[in-house]
Amino acid sequence: MTDLRATLGEAVRAAFSKVGLDDAFGRVTPSDRPDLADFQCNGALAAAKAARRNPREIAAAVVEALAGHPAIAAVEIAGPGFVNLTVSEAALSARAQELARDDRAGAPYVPDPRRVIVDYGGPNVAKEMHVGHLRASIIGESIKRLHRALGDETLGDAHFGDWGFQMGLLIVACHDEFEDLRPWIDLQGEAADEPTMTRFFEAVAPRVGLADLDRLYPMAAARAREEAEYRDRARRATADLQRGRLGYRLLWRHFRDITRAALERDFHALGIDFDLWRGESDVDPLIPGMVGELRDQSLLYEDQGAQIVRVARNDDKRDVPPLLVVSSEGSAMYGTTDLATILDRKQTFDPDLVLYVVDQRQADHFETVFRAAYLAGYAKEGSLVHIGFGTMNGADGKPFKTRAGGVLKLRDLIEMAEDKARQRLHEADLGSELPEEEFEATAHQVAVAALKFADLVNFRGTSYVFDLDRFSSFEGRTGPYLLYQAVRIKSLLRKAAAEGAEAGEIRIEAPAERDLLLVLDAYPHALLEAYDKSAPNLIADHVYRLAQAFSKFYAACPVLAAPDAAARGSRLGLSTTALRQIESALDLLGLEAPERM
Ligand code: ARG
Repeated sequence: MTDLRATLGEAVRAAFSKVGLDDAFGRVTPSDRPDLADFQCNGALAAAKAARRNPREIAAAVVEALAGHPAIAAVEIAGPGFVNLTVSEAALSARAQELARDDRAGAPYVPDPRRVIVDYGGPNVAKEMHVGHLRASIIGESIKRLHRALGDETLGDAHFGDWGFQMGLLIVACHDEFEDLRPWIDLQGEAADEPTMTRFFEAVAPRVGLADLDRLYPMAAARAREEAEYRDRARRATADLQRGRLGYRLLWRHFRDITRAALERDFHALGIDFDLWRGESDVDPLIPGMVGELRDQSLLYEDQGAQIVRVARNDDKRDVPPLLVVSSEGSAMYGTTDLATILDRKQTFDPDLVLYVVDQRQADHFETVFRAAYLAGYAKEGSLVHIGFGTMNGADGKPFKTRAGGVLKLRDLIEMAEDKARQRLHEADLGSELPEEEFEATAHQVAVAALKFADLVNFRGTSYVFDLDRFSSFEGRTGPYLLYQAVRIKSLLRKAAAEGAEAGEIRIEAPAERDLLLVLDAYPHALLEAYDKSAPNLIADHVYRLAQAFSKFYAACPVLAAPDAAARGSRLGLSTTALRQIESALDLLGLEAPERM
């Protein structure tokens, strides 16, 4: 399948060749003046500059060479030498037919599929979730879906933060809090038999729940900042845990499992599902071997009692700090786990590309880790990419929090958005005829669409302000608007089916049909650009444009009341295709439209 832009690009490049000029000048883009033409080529100006010739003269030669091309209805020179192209109705209709037959609604495949890991979300056990995790999850999910849809073998990994000092803090806090559990927590040894493990969890599970972790962790973290002795206990507990002390291990497994179950449930409610929940702990066994190997490669230096890898390069414009592999106290650090994870992924999946969808503030961390990985030969130069993003701020301009000063709870956020969605549905008089259960499901979909679309519609580097009222509106560039448009088309198609009307051969005639088809045609280009730039906002832009073009078409070209059966069939075909593409794009953003509202 070739889109019209590519078809015309080919034609114009051939025309440049034919008149003896470099065909690279034949680049075709959508017209800046859609009222005058569909596409344009500005190459005559650049070609004229290079050849010291008159641009209009070159444009005229190109226009002549294009004469009679079946996809072109009109070609004109504008201003100093722009070539304006209007697509023929035959080519538009043929393209429409092609899209109508395509169950991917025009979504392309990349020419060279790769093995890709998207590392996103990055939630932690105990440590509170913040907007960085929320944005990482929303953006990462979309990038993962895009890679998968375009043909890459893709895995999304939550890179679960389940190791490190916060675990020691929790162990100490539980030890102090639950006197009756101490015999269990203090269990020595390294391995337990089945019955002991069963009894351990029977004792611990009913006593230690998520609410306890939420309460104990901040307390312990605060206390460790104040009291050196408490801090030391937590450090020792961390070290003992990592050495495999039985009671700590089992308790830690409990923390990890209950946290993960709750996170999985809440993420799933947001349409975010990780393929892998590999934890930082999973690569811990690789670390001693890795450190030995770094030493053998002479990459490891001793620095004030710590072991580091120097990654600075001569041409660095700024200071790039070394990677701290082993601290002076002998512990592995955040970067150590990341490096070991790169090694682990190479051994288990051998990815061509790993995208780290993580807060922009971690840019330096990743630069250091990636360089160390390249030096150690764990990854091919350029195959590790940090996809950073800005923050979602509250009205006060600071990173958003759900409650005054409180932590971000996905559950609270979802419930807040659902309340707002219900209110918006009532205001718009939507969904009032639905059975209660379906209304609730719809409100949930509207809520998710509001939150996610508001995030994805901005280029990820930009920070934005959380404004649920605006995000949830059924008007403007919002998720709910898009769901509503999809629902409208679904209801139109249901009505058509009830009347026995069927989609037929598409003929593009009216201006609104032409505009709609041109937007549909641009889908593959938008997706490939979003893919190259890891920029889901380009998908968001596209689907919004599409919904608007459909709206205009629907207002200008009656479908069920079309003048004759052929026109009705054509318009139904166009509507079906538009819906399929809207749903495809929504899916890539991680959204789903209800059947009715
Ligand atoms: N858990 C980390 C945090 O909360 C984010 C992990 C990001 N991914 C990674 N491979 N480091 O900051």
